[in-house]
Amino acid sequence: MHPHVAQLTLEEKASLVSGDSFWKTRSVDRLGITARTLTDGPHGVRYQKATGDHLGVFASEPATSFPTASATGSTWDPALLHEMGRALGTESKALGVNVLLGPGVNMKRSPLCGRNFEYFAEDPLLAGVLGAAWIDGIQEQGVGASLKHYAANNQETDRMRVNAQVDERTLREIYLPAFEHVVKASQPATVMCAYNKVNGTFASEHHWLLTDVLRGEWGFAGYVVSDWGAVVNPVRALAAGLDLEMPSTGERSPAALVAAVRAGELDESLLDAAVSRLLTVHDRFGEQDEEQPDFDAHHDLAKRIAAASTVMLANDGGLLPLDAAAGGSIAVIGEFARSPRYQGAGSSHIKPTRLDDALTAILATTDREIVFAPGFRLDGSEDNELLQEATQAAATADVAVLFLGLPDAEESEGFDRTHLRLPEAQYRLVSEVLWSNPNTVVVLSNGGVVDLTGIAGHTPAILESWLGGQAGGSAIAEILFGIAEPGGRLAETIPLALTDTPAHVNWPGDHGQVAYGERLYIGYRWYDTTRRDVAFPFGYGLGYTTFNYSDLRVQVPDITRPHAIVTLTVENTGTRAGADVVQLYVSDTEASVDRPLRELKGFQKVHLQPGERREVVLELDERAFAFWSEGAWTVEPGEFIVAIGKNSRDLAHQVAITLNTAKRAPVLDEESTVHEWLDHPVGSPVLQGLIGQMGPEGQAMLGEEMLKMLGSMPLRTMLNFGAQNAPEPIDVDEVLAALLQQSRV
Ligand code: BGC
Repeated sequence: MHPHVAQLTLEEKASLVSGDSFWKTRSVDRLGITARTLTDGPHGVRYQKATGDHLGVFASEPATSFPTASATGSTWDPALLHEMGRALGTESKALGVNVLLGPGVNMKRSPLCGRNFEYFAEDPLLAGVLGAAWIDGIQEQGVGASLKHYAANNQETDRMRVNAQVDERTLREIYLPAFEHVVKASQPATVMCAYNKVNGTFASEHHWLLTDVLRGEWGFAGYVVSDWGAVVNPVRALAAGLDLEMPSTGERSPAALVAAVRAGELDESLLDAAVSRLLTVHDRFGEQDEEQPDFDAHHDLAKRIAAASTVMLANDGGLLPLDAAAGGSIAVIGEFARSPRYQGAGSSHIKPTRLDDALTAILATTDREIVFAPGFRLDGSEDNELLQEATQAAATADVAVLFLGLPDAEESEGFDRTHLRLPEAQYRLVSEVLWSNPNTVVVLSNGGVVDLTGIAGHTPAILESWLGGQAGGSAIAEILFGIAEPGGRLAETIPLALTDTPAHVNWPGDHGQVAYGERLYIGYRWYDTTRRDVAFPFGYGLGYTTFNYSDLRVQVPDITRPHAIVTLTVENTGTRAGADVVQLYVSDTEASVDRPLRELKGFQKVHLQPGERREVVLELDERAFAFWSEGAWTVEPGEFIVAIGKNSRDLAHQVAITLNTAKRAPVLDEESTVHEWLDHPVGSPVLQGLIGQMGPEGQAMLGEEMLKMLGSMPLRTMLNFGAQNAPEPIDVDEVLAALLQQSRV
């Protein structure tokens, strides 16, 4: 218990667990407890000196705007995320911020989620590893992180009350593991609970989520803060394990807590525990130095991250990189080239220290003649003149670089998208430009994936640059001219059509309910298991050099334990330095339950010089093979395929291994079937013994043909049938009870 807890009055304790203002916690002067400042996050520091808001409306202090999470997720590079965290830590400290609200590790369940730009991936391993690296970076600087939004917050529609109906296996395997990994690996200062309900209970009042799982199972030692305004009932929330309600509700919540303790409705020890956790984090992330951040260095870091995030989707005939020193003109087309879309709308919206646009950066990088045409209006309205002008510019240039993307108004916190299309004027533009000049490069700016019909397969070179932050424009210029490499790989599948997407029929629910009916099958787990064509698979991305994988070996030190060491050699076989992402997927080919065809269980980004080779080692632990079953992680004995490759659909190197782990015997009960009895290590001989006593007729029941028919019948039913023909009357209940008794020995 924090030493101050015993010295605080009930009123003081109740006041501490409730915010003082929009961004600040409360203080208790007589004990020297000072306020702490929490602010958004997570792609830059959104510190507001005056009026506070969480929708990106009022002003905030200048800060470096880094690429958003859909971009940084595509780096697959924890080392880079760590550097970003450190930079954010320095900027937070300079502004007096103690806790930065982020990162968001929610899964991209549907590409329509308006906030996908703020989430890393459709895969929990990738999101968890990147989130932990980011948090290590920021917390090393003495600034806390707030892991959000816990849990099952995967849509913006009705986000403040929708009830996510999701079964425990799906939670355990898909929606919780990123949180679990981050908590165990990095101990974030705080975890932010989501707005929504999970299986009927508000996340802010969810004892199982906030206390049993988060603290009990994962060992979380920090405090749980509410999402802004997520507390419905402060007493129920505190009792469930919430420690800090934000923002302030004035004296309303403290008074309710005091009254509940006085009335005996809330155990004061729960309040003590919350205050203790809060003050412990306050101590750890407290006093700060006033060191000035190096904003120029952070701008350069933001540029490096933007380049490492950019996914090259196509580069037919090696159109890219362009030669900056060659002759010939370039048509730069698209309003986004001069008015970049570089961050998302809502609580993460910040005021950048500078802003690079691609057009200026291109002009600064090459002496080639550049002709610019805006091509379309940002409001999406038709403009034939702009279209004509752009087509003409493309026709007379040697190469056209076309900047397309989603305008601000199309994706944001607070609402979801209703389709995947770019504004229609942009599809028309791309088709006209391609017609006038097939040498066209498309550069995309969007937070969530977009429909590439008419673009992919038609345009020789495509760069997906996401929302690249304040230096994104320069990063694109560097990639276009080969100064930097497009280092990104998709952290989210690009589907062919919205109707192909996994949550399509369940999204976004109605009447306050959303069913997670597709269960484990989100992202590539769905597309790969259902063998659906996609525009670009999870993990996909091209670079300017080539890599070769060889010598894949999978070593299992002890086949009775689920642990494997995977090694392979990666070689840069091209002529330029570059990075590749080695991806490892595991398939459970003999599972007794349905499982996704394959799941990402390891990855490593490898940076290599031309001709350089490196041995990559990836370890697989129990979780790499396990599924969630009846309250525990289970690894079944049998064959597993370990596959290595460049994306979920390009897995040229595979090794089958066999594990001989102990089979967990299910508990037999009154409803267990004949098959379940016969599969059971203790139950099977017990049942065989009984049938043996029944003579040849009884034994015939265990013949292969009969078992096909009878196997799925509860044993009770089979005994009932048997009793009909028995020479002596049989008490089936008694017999079953005796069998159950013996099978439990
Ligand atoms: C968002 C959080 C954010 C908070 C404070 C909420 O609306 O969901 O992500 O940290 O506001 O701005």
